[in-house]
Amino acid sequence: MSRRNSSTITLAISVFCAFIFVHLLFDFNHAFFGKSSQKEADKTTHYFIDIKSEKVSIIDAKSAKQAADNVQKVQERAYSIAKMEEYHKKFITKLTDADKKGWMKRMWQTKHLESHENREEVNILWWLTNGKTRESRNFDEFKDKCGPCNLVSDHKYEKSVDAIIVQNTVLNKYFYEKNVQIERINFPDMKKRNLSQIWVFENKESGIKGSDEPRQILEEVDAAFNATMSYRTDSDVTRHFGDAESIISQIRFDSEGKLKMSDEQYAKELIENKFKYGSEYNTAWYVSNCNFTSGAEKRYEFGKEMIEKGLKLYSEGACFGHVTERQFNQGGSVEFPTGKVKFYLAFENAYHCDDYISEKFWRNSFMNEAIPIMFGPHPDDVKRVAPPNSFIHAEDFDSVKDLLDYMDYLDGNDTAYLEYHKWKNIYPTGQLNQHSKCLQHLGTVNRYFLPIF
Ligand SMILES: *[C@@H]1O[C@H](CO)[C@@H](O)[C@H](O)[C@H]1NC(C)=O
Ligand SMILES: *[C@@H]1O[C@H](CO)[C@@H](O)[C@H](O)[C@H]1NC(C)=O
Ligand SMILES: *[C@@H]1O[C@H](CO)[C@@H](O)[C@H](O)[C@H]1NC(C)=O
Ligand SMILES: *[C@@H]1O[C@H](CO)[C@@H](O)[C@H](O)[C@H]1NC(C)=O
Repeated sequence: MSRRNSSTITLAISVFCAFIFVHLLFDFNHAFFGKSSQKEADKTTHYFIDIKSEKVSIIDAKSAKQAADNVQKVQERAYSIAKMEEYHKKFITKLTDADKKGWMKRMWQTKHLESHENREEVNILWWLTNGKTRESRNFDEFKDKCGPCNLVSDHKYEKSVDAIIVQNTVLNKYFYEKNVQIERINFPDMKKRNLSQIWVFENKESGIKGSDEPRQILEEVDAAFNATMSYRTDSDVTRHFGDAESIISQIRFDSEGKLKMSDEQYAKELIENKFKYGSEYNTAWYVSNCNFTSGAEKRYEFGKEMIEKGLKLYSEGACFGHVTERQFNQGGSVEFPTGKVKFYLAFENAYHCDDYISEKFWRNSFMNEAIPIMFGPHPDDVKRVAPPNSFIHAEDFDSVKDLLDYMDYLDGNDTAYLEYHKWKNIYPTGQLNQHSKCLQHLGTVNRYFLPIF
């Protein structure tokens, strides 16, 4: 088709659309405004030519303006789609076979762990807040894979274990109350310590949580630790809030480790289970902290702007005056089918807090097969841990409107939408083995996740 031909046809189509619109408008005017609205009409005669039928109509000024507006709307929408396609091309990386191999290694970490079968037993005491004890857990089931490791929480093992993990919350009292002696809080005995042990400082939540100013622990307490364990990738032991391997195993494989269905069938069912384009909701957000930290305030402001600009949001939580007892994982009062929305606002309570990416990303989004919309963590931090083509970051857009337009674009284009779910097709062939993850690496510099419970 020649260029001129195609542009003539495009013009004809937009004019034709406007023509239909004008007719509807006429009917509407006649039905509701009757003659008086006709009387007020501009005296100038406007001609409307339908190129297709070559019919000429005479219309009033108001309708002519609306017809023109409509043409403009059609053009704006075409422009917006073209712009969103540009965004899409920028975000979606086409993976080569070599890329997929690389991702396979990164995502299926337990498959690539060296065997610890013949290693010596490692005993670890998990020192919990307020001296709480958990039933000691035995990792016997993993022994043949990563070697023996026993996790206990009873303080009677304080002197004999190989390592003690101290939760940062143990130090809360020390942080918040003035003049508290370290001896007076529930902390392992520093004076009569077994020096061959490794003491690990554990921080689970974002560094900012619960503190409105930077706080320091005494140097002697700080120096008592030999290693750190947190979400930060520069910790000695990195403990993410989730991982791709567990998610793919749970979503794509059954309890026997067999693939549930083909990739094509999986994609088909995924999209069939989602609300259709144009539905009342395409996004969910459950949030209760909208002002306890500056990061929480910032995310709430951003979310509010999205809502004001037309986000199709289903929301719950104190921030919306709608507190629920929703509990992920625990079968709480789940009335709303979160799995049916296409996006989840995985907004963190901390802004650009190094590597802090919580269960909002790993569990709330991925386990509901919703694309996480990220706000809070730095885009580079998300890229470092996320599976390929798995998330949308608010900071990658020029404006809130562009972000919303892009979400709308994906909502309306299943092919493009499903590109964000293809990482779940990267899995080893054959039956999956039961996982083997343990704390064996504790105290050595091994940067991989550690799901404890
Ligand atoms: C000190 O800890 C090591 C493990 O790091 C252990 O083998 C040893 O038995 C402990 N010593 C005492 C006195 O419990
Ligand atoms: C752990 O740190 C303490 C305090 O700095 C030190 O005395 C001890 O030797 C360290 N233990 C190991 C196993 O490195
Ligand atoms: C924080 O947000 C909650 C929920 O919207 C509201 O009830 C409370 O008054 C707010 N507190 C402050 C200090 O703004
Ligand atoms: C939908 O997205 C796919 C993949 O990005 C693209 O190739 C296709 O042109 C889009 N279709 C429409 C109707 O926009």
